Amino acid sequence: MSLSPEDTALLASLRWQIAMGADEAILADAVARAARVAPPPAPPPAPQRQAATATASPTPLRKATPHGEAAAVLAAGANSLEELRAAMAEFTGSPLRETATNLVFSDGILGAPVMVIGEAPGAEEDRLGKPFVGASGQLLDRMFASIGMSRARDLYITNILPFRPPGNRTPTDAEIALFLPFVLRHIALARPRLLVLAGGVAAKGLLQSRDGITRLRGRWHQVSILDAKVLNAMPTLHPAYLLRNPIAKRDAWADLLMLQRDMNDGGIGAGAKS
Ligand code: URA
Repeated sequence: MSLSPEDTALLASLRWQIAMGADEAILADAVARAARVAPPPAPPPAPQRQAATATASPTPLRKATPHGEAAAVLAAGANSLEELRAAMAEFTGSPLRETATNLVFSDGILGAPVMVIGEAPGAEEDRLGKPFVGASGQLLDRMFASIGMSRARDLYITNILPFRPPGNRTPTDAEIALFLPFVLRHIALARPRLLVLAGGVAAKGLLQSRDGITRLRGRWHQVSILDAKVLNAMPTLHPAYLLRNPIAKRDAWADLLMLQRDMNDGGIGAGAKS
Protein backbone atom coordinates (compact mmCIF):
# COMPACT_ATOMS: atom_id res chain seq x y z
CA MET A 1 0.00 0.00 0.00
CA SER A 2 1.47 3.38 -0.94
CA LEU A 3 1.08 6.32 1.47
CA SER A 4 -0.35 9.69 0.52
CA PRO A 5 2.04 12.70 0.78
CA GLU A 6 0.15 13.79 3.96
CA ASP A 7 0.55 10.35 5.56
CA THR A 8 4.24 10.26 4.59
CA ALA A 9 4.76 13.67 6.20
CA LEU A 10 2.81 12.58 9.28
CA LEU A 11 4.91 9.45 9.59
CA ALA A 12 8.10 11.52 9.23
CA SER A 13 6.85 13.87 11.97
CA LEU A 14 6.08 10.91 14.27
CA ARG A 15 9.52 9.37 13.64
CA TRP A 16 11.15 12.72 14.41
CA GLN A 17 9.24 13.06 17.68
CA ILE A 18 10.29 9.54 18.73
CA ALA A 19 13.90 10.30 17.79
CA MET A 20 13.71 13.48 19.91
CA GLY A 21 12.54 11.38 22.86
CA ALA A 22 8.84 12.33 22.94
CA ASP A 23 7.85 9.24 24.87
CA GLU A 24 4.52 10.39 26.25
CA ALA A 25 1.50 12.54 25.39
CA ILE A 26 1.36 15.92 27.15
CA LEU A 27 -2.06 17.10 25.98
CA ALA A 28 -5.28 15.27 26.87
CA ASP A 29 -6.71 15.68 23.35
CA ALA A 30 -4.99 14.62 20.14
CA VAL A 31 -3.84 17.39 17.80
CA ALA A 32 -4.81 16.91 14.12
CA ARG A 33 -1.29 17.51 12.84
CA ALA A 34 -2.00 16.07 9.39
CA ALA A 35 -4.28 19.04 8.73
CA ARG A 36 -1.36 21.43 8.84
CA VAL A 37 1.70 19.38 7.93
CA ALA A 38 3.51 20.85 4.94
CA PRO A 39 5.19 18.54 2.43
CA PRO A 40 8.74 17.67 3.52
CA PRO A 41 11.30 20.27 2.33
CA ALA A 42 13.62 19.29 -0.51
CA PRO A 43 17.04 18.17 0.80
CA PRO A 44 19.76 20.85 0.60
CA PRO A 45 22.13 20.60 -2.35
CA ALA A 46 25.01 18.19 -1.72
CA PRO A 47 27.90 20.75 -1.52
CA GLN A 48 26.12 22.65 1.27
CA ARG A 49 25.73 19.45 3.34
CA GLN A 50 29.39 18.56 2.86
CA ALA A 51 30.45 22.01 4.10
CA ALA A 52 28.37 21.64 7.30
CA THR A 53 29.97 18.27 8.10
CA ALA A 54 33.46 19.55 7.45
CA THR A 55 33.16 22.44 9.95
CA ALA A 56 31.65 20.38 12.81
CA SER A 57 33.99 20.05 15.81
CA PRO A 58 33.60 18.92 19.44
CA THR A 59 32.58 21.69 21.85
CA PRO A 60 34.96 22.18 24.78
CA LEU A 61 33.35 22.76 28.18
CA ARG A 62 33.61 26.54 28.47
CA LYS A 63 33.67 27.73 24.87
CA ALA A 64 32.29 31.28 24.48
CA THR A 65 29.19 31.44 22.30
CA PRO A 66 26.65 34.26 21.74
CA HIS A 67 24.02 32.26 23.66
CA GLY A 68 26.56 31.60 26.41
CA GLU A 69 27.27 35.32 26.66
CA ALA A 70 23.53 36.06 26.80
CA ALA A 71 23.21 33.51 29.62
CA ALA A 72 26.11 35.12 31.50
CA VAL A 73 24.57 38.61 31.16
CA LEU A 74 21.12 37.44 32.29
CA ALA A 75 22.56 35.50 35.21
CA ALA A 76 24.77 38.36 36.38
CA GLY A 77 21.80 40.74 36.33
CA ALA A 78 19.78 38.60 38.75
CA ASN A 79 19.98 39.88 42.32
CA SER A 80 17.66 37.41 43.98
CA LEU A 81 16.58 33.83 43.43
CA GLU A 82 13.23 35.05 42.08
CA GLU A 83 15.02 37.29 39.58
CA LEU A 84 17.24 34.39 38.59
CA ARG A 85 14.25 32.13 37.99
CA ALA A 86 12.67 34.87 35.83
CA ALA A 87 15.93 35.36 33.90
CA MET A 88 16.15 31.63 33.18
CA ALA A 89 12.54 31.54 32.04
CA GLU A 90 13.29 34.44 29.70
CA PHE A 91 16.44 32.84 28.23
CA THR A 92 15.74 31.61 24.70
CA GLY A 93 19.24 30.32 23.91
CA SER A 94 18.45 26.61 24.26
CA PRO A 95 16.05 24.44 22.27
CA LEU A 96 15.48 22.39 25.45
CA ARG A 97 13.09 25.14 26.51
CA GLU A 98 10.85 24.32 23.56
CA THR A 99 10.52 20.62 24.30
CA ALA A 100 10.20 20.89 28.10
CA THR A 101 6.88 21.39 29.88
CA ASN A 102 8.24 23.37 32.83
CA LEU A 103 11.32 25.20 33.98
CA VAL A 104 12.64 23.23 36.96
CA PHE A 105 14.33 25.70 39.28
CA SER A 106 14.71 24.41 42.82
CA ASP A 107 13.22 22.68 45.83
CA GLY A 108 14.10 22.47 49.48
CA ILE A 109 14.68 25.20 51.97
CA LEU A 110 16.07 28.68 51.41
CA GLY A 111 19.16 29.25 53.50
CA ALA A 112 19.87 25.50 53.78
CA PRO A 113 23.50 24.63 54.60
CA VAL A 114 23.77 21.97 51.87
CA MET A 115 23.01 22.64 48.20
CA VAL A 116 22.52 19.49 46.12
CA ILE A 117 23.12 19.84 42.39
CA GLY A 118 21.84 17.11 40.11
CA GLU A 119 21.90 16.58 36.39
CA ALA A 120 18.62 17.51 34.72
CA PRO A 121 14.90 17.04 35.24
CA GLY A 122 13.29 13.75 34.28
CA ALA A 123 9.69 13.19 33.24
CA GLU A 124 8.16 13.66 36.70
CA GLU A 125 10.26 16.74 37.44
CA ASP A 126 9.32 18.23 34.07
CA ARG A 127 5.64 17.63 34.76
CA LEU A 128 5.71 19.11 38.27
CA GLY A 129 8.37 21.80 37.82
CA LYS A 130 10.42 20.57 40.82
CA PRO A 131 13.78 18.75 40.95
CA PHE A 132 14.16 15.21 42.24
CA VAL A 133 10.52 14.28 42.75
CA GLY A 134 10.59 10.92 40.87
CA ALA A 135 12.19 7.62 41.87
CA SER A 136 15.71 9.14 42.06
CA GLY A 137 14.39 11.92 44.26
CA GLN A 138 12.84 9.44 46.65
CA LEU A 139 16.16 7.63 46.94
CA LEU A 140 17.96 10.96 47.40
CA ASP A 141 15.59 11.77 50.29
CA ARG A 142 16.23 8.36 51.86
CA MET A 143 19.99 8.76 51.49
CA PHE A 144 19.99 12.11 53.27
CA ALA A 145 17.50 10.87 55.87
CA SER A 146 20.08 8.23 56.76
CA ILE A 147 22.39 11.03 57.96
CA GLY A 148 19.54 12.94 59.61
CA MET A 149 19.00 15.53 56.86
CA SER A 150 15.85 16.42 54.94
CA ARG A 151 14.86 18.75 52.14
CA ALA A 152 12.40 20.38 54.52
CA ARG A 153 15.20 21.48 56.85
CA ASP A 154 18.73 21.04 55.53
CA LEU A 155 18.79 20.87 51.74
CA TYR A 156 18.38 23.22 48.80
CA ILE A 157 18.20 21.32 45.51
CA THR A 158 18.69 22.23 41.87
CA ASN A 159 20.12 20.78 38.64
CA ILE A 160 22.75 21.69 36.06
CA LEU A 161 20.02 21.91 33.39
CA PRO A 162 16.68 23.51 34.23
CA PHE A 163 14.91 21.79 31.32
CA ARG A 164 14.37 18.09 30.65
CA PRO A 165 16.49 16.79 27.76
CA PRO A 166 14.21 14.88 25.36
CA GLY A 167 13.98 11.22 26.30
CA ASN A 168 16.12 11.87 29.42
CA ARG A 169 19.28 11.75 27.34
CA THR A 170 22.53 12.82 29.01
CA PRO A 171 23.17 16.58 28.72
CA THR A 172 25.81 17.49 26.15
CA ASP A 173 28.98 19.42 27.07
CA ALA A 174 27.58 22.40 25.16
CA GLU A 175 24.36 22.35 27.22
CA ILE A 176 26.30 22.04 30.48
CA ALA A 177 28.49 25.01 29.50
CA LEU A 178 25.50 27.07 28.34
CA PHE A 179 23.64 26.81 31.65
CA LEU A 180 26.72 27.06 33.88
CA PRO A 181 26.46 30.87 34.43
CA PHE A 182 22.95 30.32 35.79
CA VAL A 183 24.12 27.50 38.08
CA LEU A 184 27.02 29.56 39.44
CA ARG A 185 24.74 32.55 40.06
CA HIS A 186 22.24 30.20 41.69
CA ILE A 187 24.91 29.01 44.12
CA ALA A 188 26.06 32.58 44.83
CA LEU A 189 22.48 33.68 45.61
CA ALA A 190 21.52 30.57 47.63
CA ARG A 191 24.72 30.89 49.72
CA PRO A 192 25.00 27.30 50.99
CA ARG A 193 27.84 26.21 53.26
CA LEU A 194 28.77 23.40 50.90
CA LEU A 195 27.77 21.57 47.75
CA VAL A 196 26.88 17.97 46.98
CA LEU A 197 27.33 17.20 43.29
CA ALA A 198 25.02 14.30 42.46
CA GLY A 199 26.47 12.44 39.49
CA GLY A 200 28.98 12.91 36.72
CA VAL A 201 27.23 15.76 34.93
CA ALA A 202 27.18 18.02 38.00
CA ALA A 203 30.78 17.08 38.80
CA LYS A 204 31.92 17.70 35.23
CA GLY A 205 30.15 21.07 35.07
CA LEU A 206 31.29 22.47 38.37
CA LEU A 207 34.73 20.89 38.72
CA GLN A 208 35.55 21.36 35.02
CA SER A 209 37.07 17.91 35.08
CA ARG A 210 37.14 15.21 32.45
CA ASP A 211 37.51 12.56 35.16
CA GLY A 212 34.54 10.29 35.74
CA ILE A 213 32.47 10.44 38.89
CA THR A 214 33.98 7.24 40.30
CA ARG A 215 37.42 8.92 40.33
CA LEU A 216 36.10 12.22 41.70
CA ARG A 217 33.77 10.98 44.45
CA GLY A 218 34.70 10.37 48.04
CA ARG A 219 36.79 13.51 48.65
CA TRP A 220 36.29 17.24 48.87
CA HIS A 221 36.93 19.51 45.90
CA GLN A 222 36.88 23.29 45.69
CA VAL A 223 34.49 25.20 43.43
CA SER A 224 35.06 28.89 42.70
CA ILE A 225 31.82 30.82 42.65
CA LEU A 226 31.34 34.06 40.72
CA ASP A 227 31.89 36.34 43.70
CA ALA A 228 35.33 34.76 44.13
CA LYS A 229 34.17 32.68 47.06
CA VAL A 230 35.41 29.10 47.13
CA LEU A 231 33.04 26.39 48.33
CA ASN A 232 33.78 22.81 49.28
CA ALA A 233 31.99 20.31 47.09
CA MET A 234 31.49 16.57 47.52
CA PRO A 235 30.85 14.71 44.27
CA THR A 236 28.91 11.51 44.79
CA LEU A 237 27.07 8.89 42.75
CA HIS A 238 23.76 9.87 41.20
CA PRO A 239 20.69 8.22 42.77
CA ALA A 240 19.53 7.05 39.32
CA TYR A 241 22.85 5.19 38.98
CA LEU A 242 22.35 3.70 42.45
CA LEU A 243 18.89 2.48 41.49
CA ARG A 244 20.48 0.57 38.61
CA ASN A 245 23.57 -0.51 40.60
CA PRO A 246 22.50 -1.08 44.23
CA ILE A 247 25.95 -2.48 45.08
CA ALA A 248 27.33 1.06 44.65
CA LYS A 249 25.12 2.38 47.45
CA ARG A 250 27.88 1.62 49.95
CA ASP A 251 30.14 4.17 48.18
CA ALA A 252 27.42 6.84 48.27
CA TRP A 253 26.85 5.98 51.92
CA ALA A 254 30.56 6.48 52.63
CA ASP A 255 30.43 9.89 50.89
CA LEU A 256 27.47 11.02 52.99
CA LEU A 257 29.10 9.79 56.20
CA MET A 258 32.18 11.87 55.33
CA LEU A 259 29.91 14.87 54.71
CA GLN A 260 28.16 14.38 58.04
CA ARG A 261 31.39 13.85 59.97
CA ASP A 262 33.16 16.86 58.43
CA MET A 263 30.15 19.14 58.91
CA ASN A 264 29.80 18.06 62.54
CA ASP A 265 33.52 18.51 63.16
CA GLY A 266 32.98 22.12 62.19
CA GLY A 267 35.79 22.01 59.64
CA ILE A 268 34.26 21.67 56.20
CA GLY A 269 31.64 24.28 55.47
CA ALA A 270 31.86 25.96 58.86
CA GLY A 271 31.81 29.72 58.54
CA ALA A 272 31.73 29.56 54.73
CA LYS A 273 28.56 31.64 54.73
CA SER A 274 30.13 35.08 54.86
N1 URA B 1 17.76 13.42 38.16
C1 URA B 1 18.38 14.61 38.31
O1 URA B 1 19.56 14.72 38.14
N2 URA B 1 17.64 15.64 38.66
C2 URA B 1 16.34 15.57 38.87
O2 URA B 1 15.75 16.58 39.19
C3 URA B 1 15.73 14.31 38.72
C4 URA B 1 16.45 13.25 38.37
